[in-house]
Amino acid sequence: MKSLSKRTEDIAPSMTVAIDTLAKQLKAEGKDIVSLGAGEPDLPTPDAIKQAGIAAITENKTRYVAPVGLQNVREAVCKKLKDENGLNYNASQIVLTSGAKHAVFNSFAALINPGDEVIIPAPYWVTYPELVRWFGGVPVFVKTTVENGFKMTVQDLKDAITPKTKVVVFNNPCNPSGAVYEPGEMEALAKVIVENDLYCVSDEIYEHFTYGTKFVSAASFPGMYERTIIINGFSKSHCMTGWRIGYNAAPEAIAKMISKVQSQAIHHPSTPAQYAALAAVENGNECVLKMRDLFKTRQDLLKGMLEESLGKKLRAPEGAFYLFIPVNELYGKHTPEGKAITGSIDLCTYLLESVGLAIVPGAAFGMDDCIRFSYAASDDTLKEAARRFDKGIKELK
Ligand SMILES: Cc1ncc(COP(=O)(O)O)c(C=O)c1O
Repeated sequence: MKSLSKRTEDIAPSMTVAIDTLAKQLKAEGKDIVSLGAGEPDLPTPDAIKQAGIAAITENKTRYVAPVGLQNVREAVCKKLKDENGLNYNASQIVLTSGAKHAVFNSFAALINPGDEVIIPAPYWVTYPELVRWFGGVPVFVKTTVENGFKMTVQDLKDAITPKTKVVVFNNPCNPSGAVYEPGEMEALAKVIVENDLYCVSDEIYEHFTYGTKFVSAASFPGMYERTIIINGFSKSHCMTGWRIGYNAAPEAIAKMISKVQSQAIHHPSTPAQYAALAAVENGNECVLKMRDLFKTRQDLLKGMLEESLGKKLRAPEGAFYLFIPVNELYGKHTPEGKAITGSIDLCTYLLESVGLAIVPGAAFGMDDCIRFSYAASDDTLKEAARRFDKGIKELK
């Protein structure tokens, strides 16, 4: 038989999805697994949103709609962008997508030509480099450090720019690090982007999950609106991960490109889910703000327990709902069976196999020194996860 697509063969599957799927499968097989692997709020979709989805189905709002999605949902998104982010968009600049991940896909589809360099601060969300490669682009990683709060500096950015640079990716607040750029930091980086005539893909899906630092959209800074594609959605803010609704907000010409891609690839995201998303935007942010406060208490709880296990202070992330912690002092140790722990993948595999704890190796995010815990889980789950982590690492020799 002839070979399959080389381009597709060459990209890696999502490690976060793989770990979550494996944890769920092991649980289904009756294994005792505690998972802090998924990036998913543990709370149910709020009732009003569920009811809107159900009503759409019973009222037969189940037909094809325009590739860009329903006009009233896009108008509601524009109102959200105006009210919350101070940004003026027309509905024609909004494309509803099958989740924010699909909005990332659309963004790169619209921007990347083979050989274009795309700057991605590391640690990064797993999907960016693989999709950049899939479109023939070249990911250029800017390594950040725990010492600088996992944030790219102006100098880092300048050093990474070459004549081939086309796009800078921001994920603010960041998955996995939880870093949130201060408005002044973002403004300085934006200036470099504008001066070098680059595009910006700004994934703002965790915008509401900030614990003190003010979130400002990348599109707000001078010269940025016309070169930024915003990625956002309802999966995290409204506990709608399985509904699969996100969106791109972009300059008109880019939105048209995205609409063209979407019309050929998926036509549009599920119609009833779009009605549910309308209820989410119209219902406002009360649910996400409550969840944010709850998540901060969970962050403190998990951080305290992990600090005790590791015997060191950990950084308190300013946003998202992950603890991304350096554990390289454990590398070089051995499991009770004598297997060497050489990095984050070994450590996470060991923890899953020995104590049934599913967490994500930093290697998945381009930073092998660290591991990622999601704290979007109940206090009891967090306590049990921390107990298992403690047991697992204490048994290393
Ligand atoms: C940074 C980031 N962007 C996008 C997504 C994807 O969101 P969705 O489930 O809406 O596709 C995730 C999910 O984990 C994420 O962490």
